Amino acid sequence: MTDIKMKVFRGEEGEGELIEYDVELDEGMVLLDCIHRIQHEQEPDLSCRWNCKAGKCGSCSAEINGKPSLMCMTRMSDIIEETPENEVITVRPLKTFPHIRDLVTDVSWNYEMAKAVSPIKGPDEPDWEFSQFEAKRAQEFRTCIECYICQDTCHVLREWRTKNNGPPCKL
Ligand code: FES
Repeated sequence: MTDIKMKVFRGEEGEGELIEYDVELDEGMVLLDCIHRIQHEQEPDLSCRWNCKAGKCGSCSAEINGKPSLMCMTRMSDIIEETPENEVITVRPLKTFPHIRDLVTDVSWNYEMAKAVSPIKGPDEPDWEFSQFEAKRAQEFRTCIECYICQDTCHVLREWRTKNNGPPCKL
């Protein structure tokens, strides 16, 4: 077992700071395990979102060392290797979305957009055949796990709020 230092963003509605924690590391841990350990042993009110811990639900996305990633799919051994020796691992919420608290952001805009997409009903004729081409197109949408990392890496969306009277992002 080793001890590492990690800085996690704590605060509400964009106001806050990175707080440093010492975390005991066990073999095979992923970053989400470290966040849970901090919650369990030091900060019971640390907010984060997660569900599957298997890279399937998309809810645990955060910026790890400034890079949007899934916390449950980020091995501590990898992130320690990637972090320069004189630096501390940082975990921040996704910058693109309005900040709620700690590592949690408001991604509800995506659900509003999804409601605006009309469903594919197909033609009215009873002998209509669903082609493989159409099946593949629909399948493409099913591969999205709604982690919204793609939006977090889009500089247009990252800067949009600041330029359009959204709350300034101070993360
Ligand atoms: S907890 Fe579901 S993707 Fe990470």
